[in-house]
Amino acid sequence: MRTPIIAANWKMNLGDEDNAINFVRRIRHGLIDIDGIERVLCPPFTSLGAVFEVLRPSPIQLGAQNMHWEESGAYTGEISAQMLSLICRYVILGHSERRATESQNENDAAINRKVHAALKHDLTPILCVGENLAQNEGGETQAFVSGQVQAALNDLTTDQVARCVIAYEPIWAIGTGKAATPSQANGVIGLTIRGTIAELHDEGTAQSVRVLYGGSVNVENIAAFMRMPEIDGALVGGASLKPDFVDLVRNAAGVT
Ligand code: PGA
Repeated sequence: MRTPIIAANWKMNLGDEDNAINFVRRIRHGLIDIDGIERVLCPPFTSLGAVFEVLRPSPIQLGAQNMHWEESGAYTGEISAQMLSLICRYVILGHSERRATESQNENDAAINRKVHAALKHDLTPILCVGENLAQNEGGETQAFVSGQVQAALNDLTTDQVARCVIAYEPIWAIGTGKAATPSQANGVIGLTIRGTIAELHDEGTAQSVRVLYGGSVNVENIAAFMRMPEIDGALVGGASLKPDFVDLVRNAAGVT
């Protein structure tokens, strides 16, 4: 049995401590009351510490949105897995907004180094993969996503792969209001993502890795995704910034 997860990716929002604390105070009790599903909040770095203080002690986990692969040193503007591991359990890695050429231009090799570093410090990576619209329309989804999974998980042991969480986030669905259909996402997650892991490792590992869907998930459509056998939860952007995020998580838990 894979425990489902709903992870909130706040992106570059709620970075000031007062607003972050107020928001978390609003949703905290509702989230604590929901059973059977892991709940993870991923604020920006500037409010991570404040959210950590408001949450503890609580079953709600904290995640970061990025990190560097080195432990310390001359890396201006960066933060390490070791630093994050003091307060976080999760870290989002390889989000398409960071892979984008016009943004951080992160490549597969860098993401692979980050996955290794996160696991070394007991952070669970939420590894994001997903094709763009042209690749989707060109029938390249399977080859592209499989390549991303292979590259990001390169040189990990089977045990390490089993500890990863993967988020399938088609780029065309992120922030657009046009979510993938649940069966589309289920297909990519089952055939492509679990299929690739089964080839690289074994079927048992492929079945134990938790794989989320992300891209325009909201309070109305979450249940349909959760009903899919291959989908173990969601990485939620825009809808995680609203107080009815609690209803979204409740709707997700209602299906499990
Ligand atoms: P969205 O973002 O829910 O706003 O589409 C998801 C993500 O980028 O993780």
